[in-house]
Amino acid sequence: MLASCSLTRPAPPSGSFASVRPVLEKNCLHCHGATKLAHMPSLADTAEIAKLKGPGKWIMPGQPENSRIYQVVTAADTTPNAMPPTGHAISSAEVETIRAWIKAGAELPTGAPVVLAPFGEAIRSR
Ligand code: HEC
Repeated sequence: MLASCSLTRPAPPSGSFASVRPVLEKNCLHCHGATKLAHMPSLADTAEIAKLKGPGKWIMPGQPENSRIYQVVTAADTTPNAMPPTGHAISSAEVETIRAWIKAGAELPTGAPVVLAPFGEAIRSR
């Protein structure tokens, strides 16, 4: 019975950075990385993400509904600045993963910055 589980890794705990990382990498990093959208806040690594926490910034730890990063993924597709932009939709499970991470305090790993990289289909830019 255990052997049949050997190919699947346990899901990272809800609210952890490990759980939210692949959601950002799949849905956001194609654009909000180190190179594209250079004039905008970057999600390229955990040091950059740390700078986005606080009043008036993208992430209000503990308050998803007051966090821009959560507001844009829950906004109706027709809303200007709904994220990701047209051509791709983030799943409700992924939205919930972002919510849980912010709710739990938007924890980031300590120590050297962790670099995020996009994966999956590149999302059409608008
Ligand atoms: C296809 C490229 C693309 C992807 C993918 C993308 N964004 Fe964006 N994002 C943009 C652009 C372009 C803007 C600037 C929009 C503007 O101001 O006209 C933007 C703006 C934003 C803003 C600021 C908007 C505001 O009104 O405050 C936030 C927050 C944001 N994105 C978060 C995200 C998150 C979170 C994801 C992943 C779920 C994501 N984006 C995925 C292109 C992208």
